[in-house]
This record gives sequence, structure tokens and C-alpha cells, in this order.
Amino acid sequence: MNPPLLKLTNVNKSFGPIDVLYDISLEVKAGEVLCLLGDNGAGKSTLIRIMSGVHTPTSGTIEMNGKVVAFKSPRDASEHGIATVHQFGGTFPLMSIGRSFFVGAEPTKGWGPFKRFDRVRANDIAVKAVQGLGITRIDDGDRLVGGLSGGERQALAIARAVHFGASVLILDEPTAALGVKEAAHVLRIVLQARRKGIAVIFITHNVVHALTVGDHFAVLIRGAKAADFKKGEKSREEITDLMAGGEHMAELEAEIESYMAVHDAP
Ligand SMILES: Nc1ncnc2c1ncn2[C@@H]1O[C@H](COP(=O)(O)OP(=O)(O)O)[C@@H](O)[C@H]1O
Ligand SMILES: [Mg+2]
Repeated sequence: MNPPLLKLTNVNKSFGPIDVLYDISLEVKAGEVLCLLGDNGAGKSTLIRIMSGVHTPTSGTIEMNGKVVAFKSPRDASEHGIATVHQFGGTFPLMSIGRSFFVGAEPTKGWGPFKRFDRVRANDIAVKAVQGLGITRIDDGDRLVGGLSGGERQALAIARAVHFGASVLILDEPTAALGVKEAAHVLRIVLQARRKGIAVIFITHNVVHALTVGDHFAVLIRGAKAADFKKGEKSREEITDLMAGGEHMAELEAEIESYMAVHDAP
């Protein structure tokens, strides 16, 4: 038996008169990647903000390990083991790698008034954590986060979540702004997190990226779950069709074909 680590049941979300999410039920287990697919504006970010304590659902329940939870804040969700890497980074460009790794959890030396940030130790831990995920180019914890590539920033954020023992890792479009090689790196790291037994929720609108790492898939269309299926149950064409709601198929097909011809899946 592998019960769901995180489970949403009939979650609705409205902002005043605007209904954004309708009756969303989802679950993700330890060591599983759930891909949340959907076009821009489908409600993906709103849904993950609910899972990470930024928004409270208008109705519906969230359970972790079979117990109903109501996150009061992002910190509360994070204390429950939910680590979220929000869209467009969420890191601090002017901070060093070592310092950003420990924001809110700095290792200190000395005590009382002598307590201060242990830079050398923080750098050492951060660099080891990132290298542990195969990013060996990062070897100096004093480097600024702003100087890292998009893929390296994603790797740093994921390494941080793994290091601090997250049980659920939510990644909002981690590969959206990346080149193919960098995207492949991030996808490999997602699989490493999964192998460590983490439940990963991977948001993307890239069907190829989703199929590369996903065990389970849910498609959101205009705030509602349009489909929910496991690996192998639908083809790339069927998923693309679903996401497009049957519209503009020829156009999309041609676009995907040319993408595949140039890059191919890793
Ligand atoms: N705070 C808010 N107030 C009103 N509408 C919102 C708010 N946040 C998101 N929305 C609306 O909800 C819809 C879904 O947005 P979002 O969750 O960001 O979609 P996605 O991440 O799938 O692109 C959009 O139409 C957006 O304008
Ligand atoms: Mg979004």
C-alpha cells in the first residue's frame, strides 16, 4: 500500500466574483511525479498556490498522509514538508549561493550575541548538495545566484528542498524558460528527487517534458480538470489534443513536429 502523500478533494477557488478553479481532485504519492498540464491561464499556478499555503481554497479539502490540513501560510505548508519553487525563480539574485541556500535556516557558529552566519559551512553544505544532484559546475558558494543559469537556479532550489527534507516538491514551469540541454538537466534532477521518495508535482505546458518524467498526469482546462491518466495511457498526440481542447490541432501538430525534429526528447 502506498497511500497518497498529498490529496486534494473537490477544491474550488474564487477571487471575489471570479471563479478560477472548479472541483479539483488530485493526489500524489511518495516517489511519484504528477504532471499538471494546461495552457496559460488554466489555473495551474493558482492551484499550486493553494497547495503551498499562499491561497486558501474557497471550498474543498487538502489532506497530507490521510489527515486534513489547512495551511495558514507558506511557512506553515513548508513546515508540513511542502517545498515550492514558484514560476520565474523565487531566488535572490544578489545573494551568494551559500546564503540563499540557508535563507531562514542559517547555520550559525557561537551562541547568544556571538551567533553569526557561518559562511564557510553554509557554502560547503550548499555546494555539496547541488553537486550531489550532478551540477558539478557549481563549486564556489560565494558566487551570486544572479550569475547562475536558469537551469542552475532550478537545480539550486531543488537541492535546497531535498536537503531540508521536503516530502512534496512543487515545481511551477521549471523548464519553461530553458534551452533544451538545461531543460534535460532539470528533468534529470526531477527524476533524482523522485528516486529519493519525494512526491513531485511538476507543472508544465510542454507535453514532451511531461512525458519524459511523469508517472501520472492531470490536464487543467479553464480551471477544471479535463483529464487524469497514468503513464502509457495516452499518447503525446492525445495529450496535445486534450490540452488544446480540440482546437488549432493542425497548427499545434506542426509546431510540435518541428520541435521534435530539432531537439528530440532526452
Ligand atoms: N488573485 C487573483 N485575482 C483574480 N484572478 C486571478 C488571481 N490569480 C489568478 N487569477 C486568474 O485565474 C486564472 C488562472 O491563472 P493562473 O493560475 O496564473 O494560470 P496558469 O498558471 O495556468 O497560467 C487567470 O484567468 C488569472 O487571471
Ligand atoms: Mg502559471
